[in-house]
Amino acid sequence: MSDAYPRVGHLKTPEAFKARLGELGLHLPMDQTIISRADGSPMSQPMTLNAHGQTFTVGNRWCIHPMEGWDCTREGKPTEHTTRRWKHFGLSGAKLIWGGEAFAVQHDGRANPNQLFYTPDNVEPMRDLLRTLTDAHVEAFGSHDGLMVGLQLTHSGRFSRPNDKKKLEPRIAYHHPLLDAKFHIDPGDTAVVLTDDEIKRLIDNYIVSAKMAYDLGFHFVDVKHCHGYLGHEFLSAYDRPGEFGGDLMGRTNFLRRIIQGIRAECPNLFVGVRLSLFDMPPHHPDPRPRKGSPGKLGPGVPDDFSGTLPSYPGFGCKRDNPLELDLDEPIQLLEMMRDELGVAMVNLSAGSPYYNPHIQRPAYFPPSDGYQPPEDPLVGCVRQIQAVREVKQRVPGLPIVGTAYTYFQEWLPHVAQAVVRDGWVDSVGLGRMVLSYPDMPADCELFGELRRAKQICRTFSDCTTAPRNGIISGCYPLDDFYKKSTEQKDLNDAKAALRERLKVLSQE
Ligand SMILES: Cc1cc2nc3c(=O)[nH]c(=O)nc-3n(C[C@H](O)[C@H](O)[C@H](O)COP(=O)(O)O)c2cc1C
Repeated sequence: MSDAYPRVGHLKTPEAFKARLGELGLHLPMDQTIISRADGSPMSQPMTLNAHGQTFTVGNRWCIHPMEGWDCTREGKPTEHTTRRWKHFGLSGAKLIWGGEAFAVQHDGRANPNQLFYTPDNVEPMRDLLRTLTDAHVEAFGSHDGLMVGLQLTHSGRFSRPNDKKKLEPRIAYHHPLLDAKFHIDPGDTAVVLTDDEIKRLIDNYIVSAKMAYDLGFHFVDVKHCHGYLGHEFLSAYDRPGEFGGDLMGRTNFLRRIIQGIRAECPNLFVGVRLSLFDMPPHHPDPRPRKGSPGKLGPGVPDDFSGTLPSYPGFGCKRDNPLELDLDEPIQLLEMMRDELGVAMVNLSAGSPYYNPHIQRPAYFPPSDGYQPPEDPLVGCVRQIQAVREVKQRVPGLPIVGTAYTYFQEWLPHVAQAVVRDGWVDSVGLGRMVLSYPDMPADCELFGELRRAKQICRTFSDCTTAPRNGIISGCYPLDDFYKKSTEQKDLNDAKAALRERLKVLSQE
C-alpha cells in the first residue's frame, strides 16, 4: 500500500534518500550535488554511436523516451497537443530523442484511434512535427549539433484499439493463458492470431515507415520490442509453430527480418531497439477491502500463474518461477543485435503498463486500471537499473539508454550523473518527468540546479489514468495547459466514478 512507503519528496537531503535506499537494501551510486556542463557533468559528455560504418556523436547523456498522448486526429495526424509535446522534447536540452512517440506502421496496429500511423497522407504532417522539434531545439540552444531524433515504429498487437477507444481489436502472436483471460480473448479464437503471411506483410510495412522516416530526416528508427506490444510478444512465442516462434531464432525472426529489410532499403539509417529486458506475470489489485480506505485500489498481487508452470510464457523471467528475472536470453538477443544486426543502440525498459505497471513505470499513485504498489516504487526503479548494469557488463560495446528514473524525483539528476560516470548505463531517459518538467536536462546542464522544482513529477499517474478513460494524456496536476483544460473535468469525473465503484465493491 503506497501510504506504507515514505514519499521521495519528503526525503529532503541526499543523505535521507541514501538512507531510504539502505533501509530497502538497495545499492545505487549517487552524487551530492547536480553538476553543470561547465563543471564537467558526466551527463554532458558526448556519446558516440558506431553502426555499419557510420558514426554519430550524440551531444549529451540525456534521452527523452517516447511518450504518446492519445491526441492525434483519427486520421493519424498530429494536433496542437502532439505538436506542443514534440516542441517540449526539443526544448528539453536532451540530445537524444528516442522516437518521439509510438507510430503505428499500419492502421490495425494503432493502440488507440488517436495514435500517429503511416499513410501517404500523413508523411508531410510528420515532417512538420520533426521540424517543430528541431526548430525549438535550435532556438533554445543555438544549433542542432549532436541532436539525434528517432521515430518509434510499432504494431500494438494484443493492445490494438484502432477504431474505438474502448474496444480492443487484438492481433496476437500466440494465445497467452493469463493475458487472454485478462483482456477477454477467447483462447479458441484462431482469427486473432496473425498468420505468417500477415506477419510478412506487416514486416514490409515497417520498412515502408522506416523509409519515410529516413526521407524526412529522422536519424534512426526504433523497432519497438517492449511493453507487451506485438514485437515484445513475439519474444515469448515459445509455442507458436512456424517461422515466427519456437526457439530464440524463431522468436526473433520478426525483429531480424525488419532490421535486415531496413538495412537493405535505408543503409544510412541508424536502427535502435526499445526492449522490455525482463517481464513478469500480470498483476491485479487485491480485491480484499482495505481497512480505512474503501475508495482505493488494493495492493497489486500476481495473477495465478501456477497452471502455466514450469513453462510460463514470459521473456526475461524464469519460466518455472516468473517472479524472478532470467537475463540469459535477453543477453543473447542483445549480443545478436550488436554483432549481427548492426543495431546502433538499445533503450531498455521492462514489463508492460497494461498488466504489471509497477514493473514498467514505478509510481506512488496507481493509474485507474492499476493497483497500489506492492513494493516501494524505488525497488522497481533499482530493479531496472541493476538489470541494465548487468547487461552493460555482459554485452560491452552496445550503447544503452536506461529507463525508470522519474520516480527518483529531485534526486534523479544526482543518480543519473553517478550511474553514467560509473558506467552502469550510457544515457538516462526521461518519461513522465518530461511531461511535467520538460527542461529538466537543460536546467541541470546549464545551471546545475532544478530551477523549477515545483514541476517535479510526483507520479500521480494522471497521464495514464486519462487515456485509460478515453481522455487525452498530459500532466494534469502540474502543467497549467492541462490543469485548465476542459479535459480536466472529465478526468475528475472518471476518478470520482472509480472511487465510488471501489467503495461499493468494498462493501460487498
Ligand atoms: C503518458 C505516457 C505515454 C507513453 N508513451 C510511450 C510510447 O509511445 N512508447 C514507449 O515506448 N513508451 C511509452 N511510455 C513509457 C515511457 O516511455 C517510459 O518507459 C515510462 O514512463 C517509464 O519511464 P519514467 O519512469 O521516466 O516515466 C509512455 C508512458 C506514459 C506515462
